[in-house]
Parts: sequence; C-alpha cells; structure tokens
Amino acid sequence: MEEIVENGGSDLLKGKIMATLFYEPSTRTRFSFEAAMLRLGGSVLTNADMATTSSAVKMESLSDTGKVVSQMADVIVMRHAQGGAVESLASGSDVPVLNAGDGPMDHPTQGLLDLYTIWKTFGKIDGLKIGLVGDLKYSRVLHSNSQLLSNFDLELILVSPTQLALPPDYKKGLKFKETEKLSEVIGELDVICCNRLQKERFDNPSDCEKYRGSFVISSEVLKSAKDELIILNPLPRREELPVEVDNDPRAKYFEQVKNGVAVRMALLKKVLNG
Ligand code: CP
Repeated sequence: MEEIVENGGSDLLKGKIMATLFYEPSTRTRFSFEAAMLRLGGSVLTNADMATTSSAVKMESLSDTGKVVSQMADVIVMRHAQGGAVESLASGSDVPVLNAGDGPMDHPTQGLLDLYTIWKTFGKIDGLKIGLVGDLKYSRVLHSNSQLLSNFDLELILVSPTQLALPPDYKKGLKFKETEKLSEVIGELDVICCNRLQKERFDNPSDCEKYRGSFVISSEVLKSAKDELIILNPLPRREELPVEVDNDPRAKYFEQVKNGVAVRMALLKKVLNG
C-alpha cells in the first residue's frame, strides 16, 4: 500500500463507495480513511457533522441510519461520542461498518497503525517493553493498544494516576505492571504510547485539570530514555508532548499519521475486495 501511495494511487477499489459518518470531530481519522479510499480509486460520501446536519436531529435511530446509508455505499466508516454507537449503527447496516472511534471505548484502526509503526521500526513486536502513558481510563486509543498488544509476548508498563488507571476489562490477557511515576520506568522502555487527557470524557471536565502536566514527555524527561525508544501519540496533542520534542529522532507521531493511510488502505481492500 505504501508503494501504491508513492506511485500516486491505483484503481483496486474503482467503483466502490465509502461513506464516512462522523458524529464527533476529527482531523486525522476521517481524512486518513478518505485519502486511503481515494488512493485506491474509490469514491467517498462524507458528513463530518452528522450530529447536527443529518437526520439524527430528527431522532432517526443509528440502526436506521446504518440501513439507509448501506443502500448507497459499499462500506461505512463512523465515529460517535457514545460508546456502543458503532455496534448500533452496524446492527442495521447491510455493508461492513468500520469503527473510527467509539466514544471512550476503542479506536481500533488507530491501534492497528500504532502497532504497524512499532513493527516497522523494530521489525518485531514480541519482546518489546511498551509504556502506555497518561489517561488510561478514558483514552480509546490506549484501550485499543492494550487489546491489540495482548496478542503478543511482551511486557506493558501502565503509567497513570491511580484514578485514571486502565479499566480491568482492558487488562485481560496482558502481562503488565503499573506505576504512577514515569521517571521510574522511562529508562526501560522501547516504546511510549501517550495521549492527551480526554477532558471531554470526564463526568466533570474541570476534574481533569488536576492531572494536567503529570506526564509531560519533555526533552528533559527523554534524557533518561533509550536512544532506540520511539514516542507514539495519536494526536491531537496538548501539554503532554511539547513541540520541542518534534525534532528528536525518537518522535514518530507524524510518521504514524502517514502509516495510517496505508493501514486503512489495506483494511478497505480486505473488506471490499477479498
Ligand atoms: N488520532 C485521531 O483519532 O485523531 P482525530 O481525532 O483527529 O481523528
């Protein structure tokens, strides 16, 4: 898929239509899916603001929306602020529905591109020591990372305040240890997967402010890390990842974005073209 992008595209999915239904804001994921479909020669129907400009305003159910859109498109990509919404829409759809972010629950294609970035860097995933750092309670990306990484033989270090610890369901099948102090473990890590505080998911969003600044991956902090470490972040970032780190060769978060297009191309081809 990366070769196809370098060569300007292909017609592998010519004649296929993807509908992107976003009930919650996005910069990367929607554009990434759309770039992926266009690189494969397919077409795109898009609504970036389903919550206020679709018949959701007229209380159409997610299941009916899935049924209706699937009469016009070959695949649906959706994001929603409520966990479980993707399953609800998929229950009515006659075509595959891809999860582009399901409330606070999971964001599997981001997880896949994170794993691809790790594999591409190290040539393996087994045996690595991977730190999931920050708001592990509400970050759907870190939830997907934990679920996907449970398929490998590796150790996860979960770094968060106890109040923002990874929920028990996402710990199943993991070999892990937990700490509140990044400084105690940063020297051991091969990979840091970090994410911003998910303020929009807190019951009381102002509660998240007490954790702000707890896990800043600054140049100073990185002095204790391995030279081979890689730093992943799904973006958008806040204070947890200062701009000063962008020129550090260990920063991989913009490469992640590029990798995401190829991963989503592969997924669309698999779903639509066998
Ligand atoms: N990584 C990610 O999900 O970014 P967006 O919210 O911009 O799609």
